[in-house]
Amino acid sequence: MIKVEGLVKRFDGTAVLDGIDLAIEQGEIIVVIGPSGTGKSTLLRCLNFLEQPDAGRLTIGDLEVDVTRASRADILTARRRTAFVFQNYALFANKTALENIAEGLIVVNRWPKQKAHARAREILERIGLADKADAFPASLSGGQQQRVGIGRAMAAQAEVILFDEPTSSLDPEWVEEVLGLMKQLARERQTMLVVTHEMSFAQDVADRVIFMDGGHIVEQGPPGQLFGSPKDPRTQDFLRKVLATQVAL
Ligand SMILES: Nc1ncnc2c1ncn2[C@@H]1O[C@H](COP(=O)(O)OP(=O)(O)O)[C@@H](O)[C@H]1O
Ligand SMILES: [Mg+2]
Repeated sequence: MIKVEGLVKRFDGTAVLDGIDLAIEQGEIIVVIGPSGTGKSTLLRCLNFLEQPDAGRLTIGDLEVDVTRASRADILTARRRTAFVFQNYALFANKTALENIAEGLIVVNRWPKQKAHARAREILERIGLADKADAFPASLSGGQQQRVGIGRAMAAQAEVILFDEPTSSLDPEWVEEVLGLMKQLARERQTMLVVTHEMSFAQDVADRVIFMDGGHIVEQGPPGQLFGSPKDPRTQDFLRKVLATQVAL
């Protein structure tokens, strides 16, 4: 179980996250939507301490900290329990697909190289890229690179995988294979917090959809409810604009 209470993050005095409360059950699939610049990435980054929050409490399993007092060890624990999938994949260009997946196990978890590579091969099988073990990112398609990015997150065996617009950088032809892998993880009940504009993914896969605006959670609920009968005018307005650009649900 993951819990965020009263999370605040300011940039230049402006609260980008203005007191976020959020609890995520084990196995829950949550999709976060909202206008650009509304704090969605910042929320994910604060959970991972890629950004240092200004106030709040964070609980991840048996780790429970005031984020302003988190020790170096607390931060490392939080990072080990939250894996991140970036919009731009963030792979090491000079490492193979196998090495990219194994790297965190070796550096963060201090696994011996052989054990880490064996795990990475298992992951490559699961993400359908066993034949690309020795390929460097530049020789992979965008879809394959992002699948390696997801494979790296899977290898970490974190409590939750945080996805920040994982398909937004992809050419349209690669989007489905990445969403397909995410759906596979969802079926396995991997806990996921996903920022995305892919409304049909949210509709099909999410247990809960959260609409954020202006650093607040404005509204949340099961996808049928949030998409079918949004209550807040800001949610209604946002959905009208987004759905106008996407295939009808
Ligand atoms: N490192 C930073 N320094 C200053 N401002 C930032 C930084 N990161 C994000 N912001 C600002 O915080 C706001 C929220 O950004 P972000 O979390 O990226 O929004 P979203 O992911 O919803 O588009 C934006 O106004 C953005 O310009
Ligand atoms: Mg963002």
